Amino acid sequence: MDRIKIRGGKVLEGQIFISGAKNAALPLICASLLTDETVTLTNMPMLSDIKAMNILLEQLGTKIDEFNDFVDGHPAKTYSYRTKEATSLVAPYDYVRKMRASYYVLGPLLARYGKCELSLPGGCAIGARPMDIHLAALEQMGAQIEIKNGYIFADAHGKLKGAHIIFPGVSVGATCNVLMASVLAEGRTVLENCAKEPEIGDLAELLNAMGAKIEGIGTSVLTIDGVEKLHGATHKVIPDRIEAGSYAVAAAITRGKIELINAQSATLRRPLQVLKDMGVRVSETDRGILIDAKGCHLVGQDIMTEPFPGFPTDLQAQFLALMLTAEGASMITETIFENRFMHVPELLRMGANINVHGHASAIVRGVKKLSGAPVMATDLRASFALVLAGLVAEGETIVNRVYHLDRGYEKLEEKLRAVGADIERIKDNDEE
Ligand code: UD1
Repeated sequence: MDRIKIRGGKVLEGQIFISGAKNAALPLICASLLTDETVTLTNMPMLSDIKAMNILLEQLGTKIDEFNDFVDGHPAKTYSYRTKEATSLVAPYDYVRKMRASYYVLGPLLARYGKCELSLPGGCAIGARPMDIHLAALEQMGAQIEIKNGYIFADAHGKLKGAHIIFPGVSVGATCNVLMASVLAEGRTVLENCAKEPEIGDLAELLNAMGAKIEGIGTSVLTIDGVEKLHGATHKVIPDRIEAGSYAVAAAITRGKIELINAQSATLRRPLQVLKDMGVRVSETDRGILIDAKGCHLVGQDIMTEPFPGFPTDLQAQFLALMLTAEGASMITETIFENRFMHVPELLRMGANINVHGHASAIVRGVKKLSGAPVMATDLRASFALVLAGLVAEGETIVNRVYHLDRGYEKLEEKLRAVGADIERIKDNDEE
């Protein structure tokens, strides 16, 4: 397994181009299942999760063409998806096990074909993550759901029917899945208590470009008038706000200065406010966002993760690492997932001062220095937090299990090296 070697202490300076958003791209790919025409997605990030989703769609009968493209002068992928007729309506265990977002095929297949079999994802490193909210909503739309042998068997016996659904909890996945299910349903669907993450807005924009009738985009109430058929469309994926937030922390933690090209401040208001409150200079430029921490003395801040527009859980680990380099104590409260402090024991090995209370909160106290160590993480964002700690630690840090990072950070070492980091990938078979 590849590893990443970092020698800490460099002040990062320059520009980083922000790629297309993974969490937008994954449901967008699945939306292509709703039509027999071609859906083309541009500004697609080059990530292992995208490859995994493409392999799943191919096995459902989708024909995919891949093109090397440029977005604002930077290389990106364009993919065309055409599912003339699905050859399978089954998402098998081996796919769903590797990537939970495979569950996004459920809504579209049920909407277009009235049937789908999906392996139940089960828990993951950051929590139990059930699908009850998705399934209850689809039942309200007339689907019969049976769980047997670890699989969800969903059958609408024809078309799904519009319904008035009030989600019992705010879920990004359930909002996307049920939204995709509703666009071809009979009649009107009203979804209340929807998640409002920008990735959901991006999905709704593509669906409308395909002929869907969705109103209320960006709000917690979506109203969908079902249509007979959707057609092809071309859509540009929004920039990745979590990647942008992660590199914003890279600038802050090294007391450097990085312009995040293409980053959208409207999708990052809370995290940017936290940076400002800590003492970082944050400004909008005509190309993105400038994070300037040069010469800054940072003070700790409390953070609580919440659904959008609150502080994103996917930036919690990175900001926790940043607080280690700030003066005073910071309280980090995680309200979305029940097991999202897995990075803490690894950071402690690097000299951090963190006290975790139960599953939900951690007190982080600034330390004079961190020291490099071999570390490993159990999930994507926690792995990036360890990279961040490595960037300021004295000596050498080796981050193991790089496959987590490859799921969600395109060309991580290249991007960090370009702004001055001393970082390299050690290939599985390389001598150290
Ligand atoms: C998505 C993101 C993930 C992000 C999360 C929260 C993708 C591919 N993943 O995950 O990066 O961290 O949103 O912003 O976009 N829940 C239930 N029952 C359900 C569904 C969810 O109890 O049926 C719970 C979850 O366990 C969790 C909370 O609701 O505690 C929020 O989860 P949800 O918003 O659904 O997260 P995902 O869509 O899985």
